[in-house]
This record gives sequence, structure tokens and C-alpha cells, in this order.
Amino acid sequence: MADKGQAIERLQVLREQLRFHAHRYYVLDDPVIADGEYDRLFRELLALESAFPELVTEDSPSHRVGGRPLSSFAPAEHRTPMLSLDNILSVEELRAFEEKLLRFLKSDQPVCYICEPKLDGLAVELVYQDGLLVLGSTRGDGWVGENVTAQLKTVASIPLRLLGSASEGELVVRGEVFFSNSGFARLNEQRAQAGEPLFANPRNAAAGSLRQLDPKVTARRPLQFYVYGVANPEPLAAESQEKVLHRLAELGFPVNPLIRPCTSITAVEQMFHHLLELRHGLAYEIDGLVVKVDDLGLQQRLGATARAPRWAVAWKFPALQATTVIEAVEFQVGRTGAVTPVA
Ligand code: IVH
Repeated sequence: MADKGQAIERLQVLREQLRFHAHRYYVLDDPVIADGEYDRLFRELLALESAFPELVTEDSPSHRVGGRPLSSFAPAEHRTPMLSLDNILSVEELRAFEEKLLRFLKSDQPVCYICEPKLDGLAVELVYQDGLLVLGSTRGDGWVGENVTAQLKTVASIPLRLLGSASEGELVVRGEVFFSNSGFARLNEQRAQAGEPLFANPRNAAAGSLRQLDPKVTARRPLQFYVYGVANPEPLAAESQEKVLHRLAELGFPVNPLIRPCTSITAVEQMFHHLLELRHGLAYEIDGLVVKVDDLGLQQRLGATARAPRWAVAWKFPALQATTVIEAVEFQVGRTGAVTPVA
């Protein structure tokens, strides 16, 4: 057994290595060691931390496995309100959005946009203090959400500590937590076998998994995360949404690789149709295209209404409609006697 001095040193090395390899695996999709080797490092960390519980730190990768259950979620006030987005459904409405922007700015200069897939999950806020994740919350009513820090720490692609040189001060990051389609199907299969009620869609599965008082339950659910913005861009020294996302990737956040800059409304329109074609081949659900003014100075000038920013809009995909035939209905009886009809 190591003495405490050796344990301190070894823990530091292990955490550094695990952070590096988790980023390679979960964020970059490009692991450089075998899964078994990663597991060995992780088990060594857990063993050392259980031998020296006083050496467990807030940002230890061991928090990924979930801590003590909570009795209720504490409220968490957002640094600035988490707004919604106005929806549009056609290219005519997209053009009207741009005309309104230009009128508001009293400008006839072309505007550059960033186009992002609209993920169908749930919005969360992550607060980093001096590079350390200190608070994670749901959107709630936009002003006050629920403190789900312990649950969010179990999401493998959310950094517990930012990469790179020490980041001083506060950084407030926002993004979407979601389920992949395959993760959702697997979870529902398990639930059907256990006689538990099924989730209606990946969005509900994500919400149900995050809002678990016991973070160990959340830890067993394959939640994913993509970052899409910050509440306070100042610490990033970026002048555009594109740079913000670039900086966030450098700090270790997963950024959706389908995000593209578009220098005209025609380019936005092309991107919409491109995404609509890709939609069903993607591993996760998206329900539209978010179009954002790229320049942060223009965003600031445009501001927001009580509900939504004037510098962004959600171009929703047409609602999915399909006809199918139910071939059979099976009634599954679970352990508890609950009967679940499965079509
Ligand atoms: S930006 C102030 N970007 O859509 C800007 N939102 O209706 C607000 N969403 O609650 C959000 N993908 O959960 C933004 N790339 C994206 C998004 C996105 C999905 C969700 C988000 C928000 C809702 C707005």
C-alpha cells in the first residue's frame, strides 16, 4: 500500500492521464490507448481514493460514477436568462428575419451567420470557476433551473476541469444534453425487460436520466453533450460565434462537427436542405437548423426580447409523418407485475 505522499503524487498523474484519455475518447472520438488500459487506470484511481478519501477532489474523474443520492434538486439561478428561440418554417420567413435584422441595425451590409443543427435534447448551463466545473443546471423557467451538478458530472464528454493553461475567473457555458438513437433503443429494451415504463423518445430519455436524484442512475445512462454557446463571452476573447466555438473546443468541450459558417441567406438555405438530407442518417435526433448572427458585436447591438434573442432563429424541419402497420402487440409482464404493451 502506498503512503499518503506517494498517493498524492500518483493521484495527480492518474487524474491527468484519465482527463487526457477521456477527452481523446469521448470528445475527439480518437482514443490513443486500449479500453482495457483506460479501465486499469480508472480502477487504480478508485482504489487509491477509497484508501485515502481525504484526497478526493471536486474534479476527480471518479465523480463520473455518481455520488450520494439527493433528496431534492436545489434551485439554481442562471447568470443571465436562458432564452428560447423564435421559430420559422420557410425561406420566406428566413428572408424576413434578415430584413428585420438589417432594419434594426439600420444597415445594408451583408451579415454572416453560423448554422448549427438544432439538437433535440435539453438545455443545460455549466459554470466553471478558475477552470473547475462548480455548478450545472437545467434550463427550468429560463431564470431558475435545477441544480444537477452531480448528475452532469457523470456525462463523460463534459469536462470537469478545462484543458490547457489555468483559466481564471468564471466561464458560463451552455449546451444540449441528449441521447443517441441507439442508446435510446437499448435503454428502452432494458426497461421493457424489467417491466418499467418506456420513454416516448430520446428527448424524454435524456430529461428522465438527468433528473434522477441518484446520480449513479444517471451515470449508467449514455448521455451525450454538445456545447453551443456561452453566457459571458468576455473571458474567451472571441469576436464571433465561430471563434467562441473554436475556443470552447480548445478548452475540451465537444462541438458539433456539422456546424458551418454561411455568408448569405442562400448559403443558409443550402445548409438547411443539406441537413434535412443528413437528418435520418445521424446518430441522434435534430429538429431543425439554428441560424445565428456570427459577429458578437452585432449580437450585442441586436439584443433580445423577453423571450428570445433577435440575432438567432430556429428554422424547424417539417413535422415527421409516416404511416405504418402494427403487426402484433405483445403484453410483457415485468418483475413487479407491471404489464407493458409492446407494438
Ligand atoms: S442557442 C439564446 N443553439 O433550442 C440562444 N439552442 O428553442 C438560445 N437548442 O433551449 C439557444 N440546439 O435547448 C441554441 N445549436 C443550438 C441549439 C439550441 C438546440 C435548443 C436549446 C434551447 C432551444 C431554444
